[in-house]
Amino acid sequence: MKSFSYHNPVRILFGDKQKYIANILKADEHFKILLVYGKNSIKKSGLYDEICKVLNDAGIEFIEHGEVSSNPTLSHAKEGVQKAKDVTAILAVGGGSVIDESKAIAAAAASKYDVWELYEGKKPTDALDLYVILTVSATGSEMNSGSVLTNEETKEKLSFGSPLIYPKVSIINPSLSVTLPKEYLVYSAVDIIAHVLEVYFTAEEHSKLLNRFCENIIKSVIKTTEKLLENPNDINARSEFALCATWALNGLTSLGVGSYSFPNHMIEHSLSALYNVPHGAGLAVVLPAWLKWFYANTKNPQVERFAKKIFSQKSAEGGIDAFKKWLKKIGAPITLENLGIKSDEIEKIAENVDLVSYKWELKHEYPLKTIKKILKLAK
Ligand code: NZQ
Ligand code: ZN
Repeated sequence: MKSFSYHNPVRILFGDKQKYIANILKADEHFKILLVYGKNSIKKSGLYDEICKVLNDAGIEFIEHGEVSSNPTLSHAKEGVQKAKDVTAILAVGGGSVIDESKAIAAAAASKYDVWELYEGKKPTDALDLYVILTVSATGSEMNSGSVLTNEETKEKLSFGSPLIYPKVSIINPSLSVTLPKEYLVYSAVDIIAHVLEVYFTAEEHSKLLNRFCENIIKSVIKTTEKLLENPNDINARSEFALCATWALNGLTSLGVGSYSFPNHMIEHSLSALYNVPHGAGLAVVLPAWLKWFYANTKNPQVERFAKKIFSQKSAEGGIDAFKKWLKKIGAPITLENLGIKSDEIEKIAENVDLVSYKWELKHEYPLKTIKKILKLAK
């Protein structure tokens, strides 16, 4: 195991705890906040009314910043920064998109940098305190220090990370995601599995402990996804699924593994940037193609282990096939065509990936011709 340092400061409140948000804000001396949310799911479910009441009853003033889109955009985040000028904290109520845009606003409102400069590499000097009420478990953004945003003009989907943008508190109430449409449950499952697999396959070193930890997360996601597709109200399954999502990208799966990379995310972000596909849907298409290319080129024994441990297959190829079949079974798209993207777009997608691969430190490992090869396997 390689040496490492790990500190995750996010306080997690798990269960039916959203009613405590006003007390938490007041204890931290926040009396005027920015309330950030998405298009309409929280209004439809009644969560919006519940939160407004709790805040009003406690005398906490709030400015609203709704209409955050799935795959949040730079222009909308900039509007949020203007609204955040005289608040001391942000309350994000939603999924990864709402949290990520809130992180962008939190850092840009308190630093001297413009939002996009942060994604281009400037380090924030400060950030407003961020609080989260999670409504979809997928990205792990509730317990990590990353944020992803799309610049709709340049068609770049980039990320930045800073310890300053960890949420202070994240409330994870699995019951809040009961209303999530089935296709988003599927996309979320794929995203969680992808977070685990990126590290599992690309890490420099693999401890048995982390291998087993990663495999158990994947197995739990497979089991709970199937249960939730049958019965969306299965709260035990929702709870396990939620913990898997949080654990998959809060730093635990990469402890002591040395270097690792996120090539599937790099490629997928170009699909989202160009065609606005949901992140998990794009990953379901990229992952099997990348895995085929990866094993053919590296013969990495982790792929054989994955095949055996997750899908009881004797060969790596059998495992990749079984993974693809499972994705199809749960209703995920598995080809570019399934996403409505024609194969003559591959050149354009590969160029978009190539434009940002330096940010992922993958320019050398993934030259344009390799990206095209992988995308061709996803046709
Ligand atoms: O906008 P509303 O109306 O709220 O609808 C949302 C949205 O359409 C809906 N939804 C959320 N909670 C719901 C619900 N519908 C019914 N009931 C509920 N309880 O679900 C849709 C998707 O929401 P979104 O927040 O976009 O999903 P997700 O959590 O998957 O976030 C995706 C974004 O996160 C980024 C992705 O690239 C993408 O932009 N990621 C962020 C990461 C991070 N910060 O660490 C890592 C990830 O790899 C990922 O890149
Ligand atoms: Zn992801």
